[in-house]
Amino acid sequence: MSHILEIPKWFDLHTHFRQGELVASYISDHLEMGCAGALAMPNTLPPVSKIDGENSEHGWSIESYRGMLLEAGGDQFEELIVPLYLTKETTAQDIERGAKSGQLKAAKYYPPHGTTNSAHGVPIENWIGSDVLKAIEANEVILCLHGEQHGLTGADYFDSKHTAESKFYQNWMPKLRDTHPGLKMVCEHITTEAAVAFVESSVEGKVAATITPQHLLYTVGHLIQGLRYHLYCLPIVKFENDREALRQAVTKPGQSRFFAGTDSAPHTDKVTECGCAAGCYTGGCAPQLYAMAFEEAGVNLATPEGIDSFRRFLSANGPEFYGFPVSNETFQMVRERRGATKKAPVTSLPEGMGLELEWAIV
Ligand code: NCD
Ligand code: ZN
Repeated sequence: MSHILEIPKWFDLHTHFRQGELVASYISDHLEMGCAGALAMPNTLPPVSKIDGENSEHGWSIESYRGMLLEAGGDQFEELIVPLYLTKETTAQDIERGAKSGQLKAAKYYPPHGTTNSAHGVPIENWIGSDVLKAIEANEVILCLHGEQHGLTGADYFDSKHTAESKFYQNWMPKLRDTHPGLKMVCEHITTEAAVAFVESSVEGKVAATITPQHLLYTVGHLIQGLRYHLYCLPIVKFENDREALRQAVTKPGQSRFFAGTDSAPHTDKVTECGCAAGCYTGGCAPQLYAMAFEEAGVNLATPEGIDSFRRFLSANGPEFYGFPVSNETFQMVRERRGATKKAPVTSLPEGMGLELEWAIV
């Protein structure tokens, strides 16, 4: 029997559970991979853009969306956070009231039209210094950011020297941080050396980041060769120096700034009329993929040091930053090819990439 890796159950601090009849299968895939809780993204249709009350044609409320997820199996999670989608309708009073009621723990910035269901996003320049952000800062609500410059095309959007993400981290994030020094921020699904540098240059405990398995495993060459669209998500996978920076960030001994957020994003219709929906589904296989990425980064998961860096990234740093307890329960993985368990009828990343998992959940 090969070595068993046992760590506390982990938290997925950026995932998509959507809406409708498949929600239960997405949640079940998460529970079966040792996941103890999640931050479920608010880019539903319509978005989760109110704190409480009934849904309307304009939006779900955190209360009603979270209630629906709990009923669909999410009640088995130890923690389930739904951030508020920031739109032009959001007010400082909403933020204050939501934070005081305990329902509002996090708020989400989407670049307008920058990714799946992000049409309601408001440009970052409108938020910096605004009453809404001041209220987020004052009420200790965590700001989750999809950090890409919106409105770019062609070589401005993606080039070997700069990308929509590197521009956002170089041009906007220092302004945001300096204008709101008390703000706690999570730089979500970061993909570039520039984003890693921003996080590492910020105050520990104020600025953290999530990283997906695909961005630790792959570079843009993997996507382009054969146009393997199952790897198409936003921000897009980047270059070798970027992947290297991400790998160094997550495996640095004792690090507390980076944690798991899979951005698992199911799409039942991945291929569209012209192009492809953005989002990779990693339900059922995320810790296995993270383990493979840690090994590729040179971590020996059979040593106490290796296990400690894996545990920090998956199970400890996220709860610490968001302010809830590390799970008391554990889950186990073994280095063995066995295939992933998956209930949701959408193609997962490993299937799409023709990848065999090197690890299995016991
Ligand atoms: C996400 C989705 O499908 O909802 N897609 C993605 O490519 N990551 C949206 C997001 O988080 O950007
Ligand atoms: Zn996402």
